[in-house]
Amino acid sequence: MPVPRNTHEFEVVSDAVDEVNVLKSTKAWDDESEFDVQKDKTQFRQYDDACSRVKKFYKEQHEKQTVEFNINARVKFRKSVRAKMGVWEAMEKLNTLVDDSDPDTSVTQIEHLLQTAEAIRRDGKPEWMQVVGLVHDLGKLLYFFGSEGQWDVVGDTFVVGCQFSDNIIYPETFAGNPDTYDPVYSTRYGIYKPHCGLENVMLSWGHDEYMYHVLKDQSSLPEEGLAMIRYHSFYPWHRDGAYTHLMNDTTDQKALEAVRAFNPYDLYSKSDDRCDPERLRPYYQSLIEKFFPDVIEW
Ligand SMILES: [Fe+2]
Ligand SMILES: [Fe+2]
Repeated sequence: MPVPRNTHEFEVVSDAVDEVNVLKSTKAWDDESEFDVQKDKTQFRQYDDACSRVKKFYKEQHEKQTVEFNINARVKFRKSVRAKMGVWEAMEKLNTLVDDSDPDTSVTQIEHLLQTAEAIRRDGKPEWMQVVGLVHDLGKLLYFFGSEGQWDVVGDTFVVGCQFSDNIIYPETFAGNPDTYDPVYSTRYGIYKPHCGLENVMLSWGHDEYMYHVLKDQSSLPEEGLAMIRYHSFYPWHRDGAYTHLMNDTTDQKALEAVRAFNPYDLYSKSDDRCDPERLRPYYQSLIEKFFPDVIEW
C-alpha cells in the first residue's frame, strides 16, 4: 500500500534520506555489531531473576510443545490463509501484544521492531538485513490467529522429536512433557538421522517457524535473512551450541553465522532510545516495497 503523501511526510522522508546517506552502508551483514559495544550485556536475559510471569510461561511452553502438537500446528498452518495485509499494517496489528516470555523489554512490539531495524541501519548493514529486523517478530500475529496461548507463539525454541537439550532454559520443566517418556522421542536422535540438517527437524512451533514459512515464498530476502527469521529464538543452538549432531555441513553453518550476526540487534537494541513509528514509516515503507508484495497472505 503506498504511503499517502503530504508536506510533513516529505520532510520526514528527506530527513531520512539525509540520515541514510550519512550512514551509507559500507559493511557486510556479518561484520561485528558496533552499536552495542558500550552496553553491559550481563543485564540482558537474566532469567533467574526474571519475574514469575516468564518462569510460568516457560513451564507451560515446555509441557505442551509435543511432537503431536507440532504436527497438528503445521497441518493447521497449511490449511488456511488467516489474513491478507501488508507489512506495515501487520506491524500495527501486532502492536497490542505484550510478550510474556520476554524479561528485557516493556516497549511496544512496533517499537521493538523499529529499534532492531534502526540498530542494524545505524551499523551500516544492508537493506535486506534492516528489513529482517523490521519483520522478524511479525509471526507473533499468530496470537491473533487462533493460537492456543502465548506458549505456541513466543519464547525460545528447541527441537521436538528427540531428547530435550539441557541447554534449553529451565530444562527441568520438561518433566511435565509426555514426550520425555516416549521410547523414541526421548533418545539422542529420536526420529532424526545424524546430521540430517535443521531443515529436516521440527522446531517447537511459534512465531519464528511460522514467519519463515509465510515469507519464504512471499519475499525476496536472501537465505541468510530467512535463517535469521527462522532461528532467531533458537538460543539453545545459536548461543549454547546444542544440536550440532543434527546439523548438516552445507547450509546450517551459514545459517548459524547469520543468526549470530543478527542476534545482538534483536537483543541489545531493547535499551536503545524510543522510536517514533510515524517518523520512521516513510523510510521503512520504501524498504518494504523492495522486498515484499503489497499484500501478504498470512
Ligand atoms: Fe522473536
Ligand atoms: Fe525480537
